Amino acid sequence: MFHSFIIFYLFCTFVSGLLPLEIKGNRFIKPSTTEGEEGEVFFIKGVDYQPGGSSAYEDDGDSDVLTNASICFRDAYVFQQLGINTIRVYTINPSLNHDECLTILNNAGIYLLLDLSSSSESIYRSDIEASYNYDLLYRFFSVVDAFKDYPNVLGFFVGNEVINDDTSASEDPPYIRAVQRDVKNYIQNNANRTIPVGYSAADVTSLREATFEYLECNIDGDENDLSRSDFFGLNSYEWCSGISDWSTSGYSDINSTFANSSIPIFFSEYGCNTDSPRTFTEVSEGLYGGLIDTLSGGLVYEYSQETSNYGLVTIGSSNGSITELTDFNNLQEQFLKSDIPDILESEVQESTIIECDSSLIEKSYSGFDSNFTLPAVPSGVENMILYGANNTNIGHLIDIDAQTSNYTIYYSNGTEISDPTVVFSADDEIDSLSSSISSAGSDSSTSSASSSGSSSTTSSSSSSTKNAASSNNSPQIGLFGLLAIVITYLM
Ligand SMILES: *[C@@H]1O[C@H](CO)[C@@H](O)[C@H](O)[C@H]1NC(C)=O
Ligand SMILES: *[C@@H]1O[C@H](CO)[C@@H](O)[C@H](O)[C@H]1NC(C)=O
Ligand SMILES: *[C@@H]1O[C@H](CO)[C@@H](O)[C@H](O)[C@H]1NC(C)=O
Ligand SMILES: *[C@@H]1O[C@H](CO)[C@@H](O)[C@H](O)[C@H]1NC(C)=O
Ligand SMILES: *[C@@H]1O[C@H](CO)[C@@H](O)[C@H](O)[C@H]1NC(C)=O
Ligand SMILES: *[C@@H]1O[C@H](CO)[C@@H](O)[C@H](O)[C@H]1NC(C)=O
Ligand SMILES: *[C@@H]1O[C@H](CO)[C@@H](O)[C@H](O)[C@H]1NC(C)=O
Ligand SMILES: *[C@@H]1O[C@H](CO)[C@@H](O)[C@H](O)[C@H]1NC(C)=O
Ligand SMILES: *[C@@H]1O[C@H](CO)[C@@H](O)[C@H](O)[C@H]1NC(C)=O
Repeated sequence: MFHSFIIFYLFCTFVSGLLPLEIKGNRFIKPSTTEGEEGEVFFIKGVDYQPGGSSAYEDDGDSDVLTNASICFRDAYVFQQLGINTIRVYTINPSLNHDECLTILNNAGIYLLLDLSSSSESIYRSDIEASYNYDLLYRFFSVVDAFKDYPNVLGFFVGNEVINDDTSASEDPPYIRAVQRDVKNYIQNNANRTIPVGYSAADVTSLREATFEYLECNIDGDENDLSRSDFFGLNSYEWCSGISDWSTSGYSDINSTFANSSIPIFFSEYGCNTDSPRTFTEVSEGLYGGLIDTLSGGLVYEYSQETSNYGLVTIGSSNGSITELTDFNNLQEQFLKSDIPDILESEVQESTIIECDSSLIEKSYSGFDSNFTLPAVPSGVENMILYGANNTNIGHLIDIDAQTSNYTIYYSNGTEISDPTVVFSADDEIDSLSSSISSAGSDSSTSSASSSGSSSTTSSSSSSTKNAASSNNSPQIGLFGLLAIVITYLM
């Protein structure tokens, strides 16, 4: 058995970028790039990114939405115009190369929330027991391998809207926790940093609280319970701009239901389009207004115009040009109008351990499966967790310069934008993990029980105060301004 002790040394000339986000209590924290300064609360300002719609993805295709650099240069420029810092992507192929796109996003200051599922491999609500199998986890772990070394990966979703009615509520919850357990265990054993893992819940108001309570808690109060969600995504279309306001939207209920959350909560999809074009009043008055104490921002559904009519831009089908829509302008304006507070890490409450309590969950929704004895790991998966899923396609950041989009981009009034060049800002750069960890080999991470080293990444925070997403046994390596030296003792 190994015991790893991590000692961090100051290495001043490295200061140039931002660290991966961490979690403290109910907040994401963006560490400071300046040694000695504490981090700040990070609010997600994002869009769901699914150009072509869900049907555009093919398991055996030779591309996905993060494989074409020209397109990523085009869209990163548009993201910056809009004023966002995060995108959610629903499906990628773990055997393809994503280095260019992830580097472009990284250098442009954009984080990625990634779903692990594909249409053929997901926690399948109506055949849950059969879907929890070796092949599912093989895919999930392969996606982790392909993305774990990109510092701008904010987190992974193990499932989207799995629980959405009485039947799924009565059968599926333990499987979501089981997959979270397996994926977090895999990350702990096979990645160089802790990457948050969570779930994206359906917009079914009656099931919302029970789902959250079931996923938020620690079984038997165990602070190292890996099956707990690190964050909770909520797909919410309750506030329809032009129709609803704070009191009629249900946002007030969201604010009180989640007031005491011990993990970050955000809208993983929002933007009701009953009234179109959308004026997005829920942005400044709701999400970054009345909900600012409770939620950590959200992602608007969705970037491109598809048949469901939620787009912020249209993409020319033959020439790939972008035309910003009125929705785009309105959202951009709302972001500018939003008054997002600067909150220091030290102002955030320490995370708390909430012991799982089946009776509480049944009180929130009778018929909800509140069984906390989780399904056992499928046969063969334990070895994958220990020795890896053998995906040799491990992505990493590369050297790349900012470039002007080769596609034409139009304002909503039809005027062409003259120089659509993404800005790579040194201040916003999230540097590669690898530069600072050459001496922190895989020893530290293949030990499933390494636990003694402090994994704190900022001088002002102690790792024991953070929840599982940032303080579990997997050391947070990859520090700017810090050189990690791992001393491994064989015990
Ligand atoms: C990127 O997409 C464009 C438009 O579909 C295509 O013409 C181009 O060949 C693609 N580039 C790569 C490297 O696949
Ligand atoms: C634009 O096209 C040129 C020529 O094909 C290519 O070298 C360049 O990388 C492209 N730029 C972007 C941003 O895609
Ligand atoms: C950690 O990062 C180093 C340097 O990039 C790499 O060589 C090593 O394989 C990584 N270890 C794991 C477990 O990903
Ligand atoms: C949150 O905590 C406060 C103070 O402990 C308590 O009064 C309130 O009922 C709690 N709210 C919820 C939704 O649990
Ligand atoms: C939302 O809840 C917080 C407590 O978590 C409270 O301070 C705030 O006033 C509430 N906002 C509104 C608009 O009611
Ligand atoms: C691209 O195609 C769209 C229609 O899909 C058209 O409106 C636009 O003018 C075209 N742009 C260029 C530069 O060809
Ligand atoms: C809880 O789940 C476990 C594992 O699937 C199962 O063995 C047990 O029978 C379940 N308990 C109840 C009360 O359903
Ligand atoms: C990975 O490769 C090793 C050696 O070839 C093999 O023993 C192991 O079964 C493979 N694991 C998976 C998950 O494919
Ligand atoms: C179109 O909108 C852009 C951006 O708001 C503006 O700079 C430009 O002058 C407008 N063009 C026309 C013809 O109104």
